[in-house]
Amino acid sequence: MSTPSILILPGDGIGPEVMAEVVKVIDWFGDKRGLKFDVSHDLVGGAAYDKHGAPISDETMEKAQSVDAVLLGAVGGPKYDDLDFSVKPERGLLRLRKEMDLFANLRPAQCFDALADFSSLKKDIVAGLDIMIVRELTSGIYFGEPRGIFTENNERVGINTQRYTESEIERAARAAFELAMKRDKRLCSMEKANVMESGILWRDVVNEVAVDYPEVEVSHMYADNGAMQLVRAPKQFDVIVTDNLFGDILSDCAAMLTGSLGMLPSASLGLPMANGRPKAMYEPVHGSAPDIAGQGKANPIACVLSFAMALRYSFDQGDEATRLETAIETVLAGGARTADLLGEEGVTAISTTEMGDKIIEALTASL
Ligand code: NAD
Ligand code: IPM
Ligand code: MN
Repeated sequence: MSTPSILILPGDGIGPEVMAEVVKVIDWFGDKRGLKFDVSHDLVGGAAYDKHGAPISDETMEKAQSVDAVLLGAVGGPKYDDLDFSVKPERGLLRLRKEMDLFANLRPAQCFDALADFSSLKKDIVAGLDIMIVRELTSGIYFGEPRGIFTENNERVGINTQRYTESEIERAARAAFELAMKRDKRLCSMEKANVMESGILWRDVVNEVAVDYPEVEVSHMYADNGAMQLVRAPKQFDVIVTDNLFGDILSDCAAMLTGSLGMLPSASLGLPMANGRPKAMYEPVHGSAPDIAGQGKANPIACVLSFAMALRYSFDQGDEATRLETAIETVLAGGARTADLLGEEGVTAISTTEMGDKIIEALTASL
């Protein structure tokens, strides 16, 4: 098989800062583990707008469609807040997800032992936490029509539409059931079937897919209760499957169970390509963090863990993914903390680059 290809889109704000640490990790795997990748770099978000007047160019889209995996940092920032909606940085990310048809967004939330004390929740609530949120990523209210800001009866009205077809729900649910089969075989589906027709359909379709997975214990929760339960007793969950908007909110909420938004990776997966690999983009859950951008304070772990997910889901290198995750665990157990993870007495923060260097040291020590 030819050398697998990766397109790196660092984006804006802390995106390029955290991605620089991922590049070190990719190079390490090439040098020390013989895992060679054909890596190219391009622009997305505000960075692409500055150069092309669009948050992603057609050429970059074509490249993204042709590689084995895309790694994305983050997009957006105050500099672009007043741009026309159609060219905002976030539209670049949404175009990638939609046109690559990356319908299954896997957002795992794991609490590393070393950070159990650090969560805003009590240690025994989060210690050992290991949940997987599957967020439908290419439909729902993010993309439904009609949408826009219109004038009606001499006032403005903002419209977005929640719309799901059966097949869109089915493929997201199937991805979640497949993951549940490899985990603890428990799946909780979250919607608002009490107030939304799309929620009623969501629940029906999940139950229909469940017939094919008799070993999986299925439950349903209204998403508002789900948010409360995630904070009250998160360990009750194994896999959660939910729609695009609820998944966005619930996964940020789950991030704090792990200690910081700077810890949460994600994989956005689509259908298999001709070579059998799924269409895929790997992106941290966090954004461009304008409040800390350019200060060397960003935690690169979410982005590095997203590359670990690439090793696992795109490149069939589960053992090497585990090696990388274990290296991060070792670094955290050794007390290394970026500023977002501070809280313990007497601990001083290390920079983004220093955290990346420590991960490389731990990787080397693992040989
Ligand atoms: P954000 O995730 O950028 O930041 C929220 C808070 O978390 C901030 O205080 C930030 O400093 C902190 N934080 C986030 N990532 C961190 C990291 N790696 N290390 C340390 N601290 C971290 O969310 P926001 O402030 O609501 O949004 C800022 C911009 O990012 C907006 O333009 C938004 O649209 C965009 N955004 C992009 C993505 C993405 O590209 N996938 C995701 C979310 C938000
Ligand atoms: C995320 C982000 C994006 C989303 C934005 C930046 C488009 O919040 O990846 O979680 O809402 O999906
Ligand atoms: Mn989000």
